[in-house]
Amino acid sequence: MDFSGVTKEFEGDRIRLRVMDQRDATGQYAGWLNDPEVNKFLATKSATVPELQTYIDAKHKQSDALFFGVYLKTDGTHIGTVKLEPIELEKKRATIAVMIGEKEYWGKGYAGEAMKILMDWCFSELGCEEMNLGVIAKNTGAIRTYEKLGFKEVKRDLGYIRYGDELHDQVWMTATAPHTSV
Ligand SMILES: CC(C)(COP(=O)(O)OP(=O)(O)OC[C@H]1O[C@@H](n2cnc3c(N)ncnc32)[C@H](O)[C@@H]1OP(=O)(O)O)[C@@H](O)C(=O)NCCC(=O)NCCS
Repeated sequence: MDFSGVTKEFEGDRIRLRVMDQRDATGQYAGWLNDPEVNKFLATKSATVPELQTYIDAKHKQSDALFFGVYLKTDGTHIGTVKLEPIELEKKRATIAVMIGEKEYWGKGYAGEAMKILMDWCFSELGCEEMNLGVIAKNTGAIRTYEKLGFKEVKRDLGYIRYGDELHDQVWMTATAPHTSV
């Protein structure tokens, strides 16, 4: 879908979301992905500012992706990212991924707030009936966040991905639109 004419800025109680551009490819953002605590359960284990520039540009060009920054409403601080990819309108579904990179904002519900904004939009404006995501089984904080948003485990792949010496299981989760029966 061509999202060029679609509203892509959102405001929640404490955060704003807007599609990221080259301004957002900062050392701060690269620092999140280079931090072993933040990237522990992420496939990306390092990043440079030029790599982020390339990535943000690639997401702009993709017709089935929208890549948002998460910003505090108070002072505009960039605290994370949330991505819809792929958005599969013909299948009435989208896949979502979140990262709160600024660790001082962990455990305060920001990931949930950012995801809820986009889930509501996908359900009510894009006509999606299903949201999907994948998460490493050991990422219990993330899974707790997702369960609170209504995601349920639908599949588990044992030994799905290797990070260093360790093979990790992957959990696939789905949330359905409020009116949709499972
Ligand atoms: C995982 C992550 C998205 C959670 O975001 P968050 O904004 O801190 O989550 P919330 O504040 O909504 O927390 C929701 C629940 O998870 C719990 N939680 C959050 N981080 C946790 C952690 N590291 N360990 C255990 N529990 C955690 C919170 O206590 C809360 O539970 P509660 O309300 O019952 O107390 C965030 O820590 C993050 O981005 N981590 C790095 C990147 C990542 O792993 N992304 C997910 C990839 S699938």
